[in-house]
Parts: sequence; structure tokens; C-alpha cells
Amino acid sequence: DNSDCLSVTCQASPNIALIKYWGKRNEELILPDNDSLSITLDLGELHSDTTVSTSSSMTCDTFYFDGIQQTKLSKRMQKVLDEVRRRAKNDQIKFVEIRSHNTFPASSGLASSASAYASLAIALTKLFNLENPQSTAAYLARIGSGSAVRSVYGGFVRWSSEGECLSSCIYPVEHWPELRLIILIFNSSKKPVSSTDAMQRTRETSTLFQARLSTVNDKIEKLIQAIKIKDFNTFAKIVMMDSSQFHAVCMDTYPPVIYLNEQSKHLIDLVHAFNKTDENETMKVAYTFDAGPNPFCFIREEHADEFLSLLKHFYPSNNDNDNVHKQVSNIDGNFS
Ligand code: PMV
Repeated sequence: DNSDCLSVTCQASPNIALIKYWGKRNEELILPDNDSLSITLDLGELHSDTTVSTSSSMTCDTFYFDGIQQTKLSKRMQKVLDEVRRRAKNDQIKFVEIRSHNTFPASSGLASSASAYASLAIALTKLFNLENPQSTAAYLARIGSGSAVRSVYGGFVRWSSEGECLSSCIYPVEHWPELRLIILIFNSSKKPVSSTDAMQRTRETSTLFQARLSTVNDKIEKLIQAIKIKDFNTFAKIVMMDSSQFHAVCMDTYPPVIYLNEQSKHLIDLVHAFNKTDENETMKVAYTFDAGPNPFCFIREEHADEFLSLLKHFYPSNNDNDNVHKQVSNIDGNFS
């Protein structure tokens, strides 16, 4: 009997960190060691869609990914559902069915857990009519997958490491319409060390880690100021330096965690050479790398074609679906 079945579907997009989150001071609640700042991608092309349903006839929680029922819910997903039941007023509602799908392939170099948990959190908040929907959705997304807290909002988003450790939109995406993103896929296989394990190892062994923490807030303030006045030079420099600092800290752990590969290093040199070709030495492109070798390149629209032809020259592929897959996307997103 499905007569009392309620159902909600929501979408969320991945986000790319401009200032990286690295380190958890509380594993269970996923409280970060430092603030981070990111940009949420276009909801139009790349998103996770999650449908949550509940009815009195359900006898357990179930999870379908791409239409296939999973034998077990992950511990984190279970944690999110338990928190929802704790907050829901209507205690008739016992179990939930989750159906999730990504419009982008797992091999696209994008962390799908951020958009998946953000869409799940928003959908659950709506389904159970939870109080303070935006902060509740952010909380639920965070305990599912830390950086998912930033995908609850579109545009430029800051995740605070203090107080409630929630996220907020600093500027909506419309603020900087000329900004474009090019993603290169050098390697789509699973990362050698999970970010959870690598963060733990970093906290235990890296001495550079504390030094990094003391620089983050200042970088975030400067970056927000650069975004405010659309100063791409400052934006590019801060974003690239934070990416390198994050990877230096990974290298400083014992045993070292190395996410970049030879192609990543080549791309770094290429970007700096490309930026130097401009007569006024104004920056045209900025790279950033998450816990993997694939670069995310931010560029102003006016330079995108020139940079793309350079990429095609250095990283030729036989067809568009080959090992180097380039995607130019508007940067957009919504709380929807
Ligand atoms: O969300 P996690 O636990 O996979 O951690 C992601 C950490 C980075 O992607 C490297 C940086 C970030 O802020 O997203």
C-alpha cells in the first residue's frame, strides 16, 4: 500500500575548492581544521539528482544508485538518515528510500560525493519539512561528506571552521559571468589514498600542516576581496598558491601522499608560460588540483579559445572521448 507515499527530488552540483579544506578536528561531525572557499558548478550540465521517498509500508532504508539497489547503505548515509529521524517531528515516518543518479561520469575527475550528499540533504530537509531548511541541509550534507556542505549553495561559498561549521554564499554566480572553468582528465582512476586517510596522516605527521593553517584565513579574506572587485590577477595567484601549498603539505606527510603526476607538473609549467606571454603580464589562467592529478583551470572567457588550442596542441587526443577530456562550463548553481 503506497497511498501515504511522499516523495521529493532535488539536484545539486559539484564544487571546486579555491582554498582547500584539509584536516578534520572531529571525524564524526566532520568539523574542519580550516575555513575553505569554493565555487559551485553549473546546475545545467553537471549535477546529482536524488529522490527520497517515505511511506508507512517501508520496513527498512533502501538505496538505489543509477537504478541499482545497493546491498547496504554506507555508514555516512545511515548517519544522515538517523539525524533526519532525530530532527523530524512526524515520528510516523520511519524509513526512507533513496534513489540517486549523477549526470556526469564517475571518471570525470569531479568529486561526486559533494553533489550527491548535497542533493540528498536538501531533499531530506524538504521531505520531512525540517526547521531552518538551509542550515539543516548544510549540516546534513556536511556529516555525509565534508565538502558537500559547500554544494548546498551556488556561486562562491565559504565553509566556516568555527561555530556551527556551516556554509554560506559569499557571491552568487552572476557576480562574475566572464569566469570559465576547463577541466582536464589526466587520470580517472581512484585516488591512491582516500582523503579521509590522507587528512589523518597529515595531522599526525606533517609539520608544515600547522604553518598552512595559520595562512588560510588571510588568503580567504584576500581572495574574497579579489572576487569582489573581479581582480583576476590576485584571484589566480592566491588560487594557484593554495593548491600548491595543499600538495606540499601532502608531500610533507609520512609516508608522503602524492596526488599530482608528471602531466600535472607539465600543466603547471604550461600555465605559467602561458601567463607570461601576455605583454602586461596579466594572468590569463589559474590551475587548482584537488586530491588527484586532474587540473581545474579557471580562465576569463576572452582567453578560453586561445588556451584550449594550446591544450589541444600539447595533449592531443584521437577523439573527444579519449583520455584527455576537456569540458568548458559556465559556473552556476542554485539552492533548488
Ligand atoms: O570532501 P573530501 O573529504 O573528499 O575532501 C576533499 C578535500 C579537497 O578536495 C582536496 C579540498 C576541498 O576543499 O574540496
